[in-house]
Amino acid sequence: MTTQRTLSILKPDVTRRNLTGKINSLIEDTGLKIVAQKRLKLSLSQAQAFYSVHKKRSFFNDLINFMISGPIIVQVLEGENAVATYRDKMGATDPKKAAPYTIRAQFAESIEANSVHGSDSLKNASVEIRFFFSEIEINA
Ligand code: CMP
Repeated sequence: MTTQRTLSILKPDVTRRNLTGKINSLIEDTGLKIVAQKRLKLSLSQAQAFYSVHKKRSFFNDLINFMISGPIIVQVLEGENAVATYRDKMGATDPKKAAPYTIRAQFAESIEANSVHGSDSLKNASVEIRFFFSEIEINA
């Protein structure tokens, strides 16, 4: 039993289709609590910095252009094994391979416009949360 925090992003395909509430409801159904949330639009340099781990990948430029194409919702989720719990609920990166109960199976448009991002480890969760939030903005 470990309480953790993880970073979640609802991507531009979510804000464009006005799906924030529906996805938040699925997140809350897992038992995780949304302890911080804000809507913002990434600049080119912010998106490149956030996804710098992927900068050598063939899809990097397309990913960055998509992530700056509209507003995103950034969130801190807190609860039991939050990193793994949220990644399970998100589903596979490619929505065609995602299990039916997952957010991506239900809402993602493509491997790129795949609706949500979640930190892939506790260490990265800490780095990614600090990228967007100060401690005063996170309230359990
Ligand atoms: P995310 O969890 O935000 O992390 C990197 C993102 O790159 C990923 O979700 C996908 O939206 C995007 N992406 C686009 N094409 C690919 C691909 N071929 N393989 C993996 N990720 C991809």
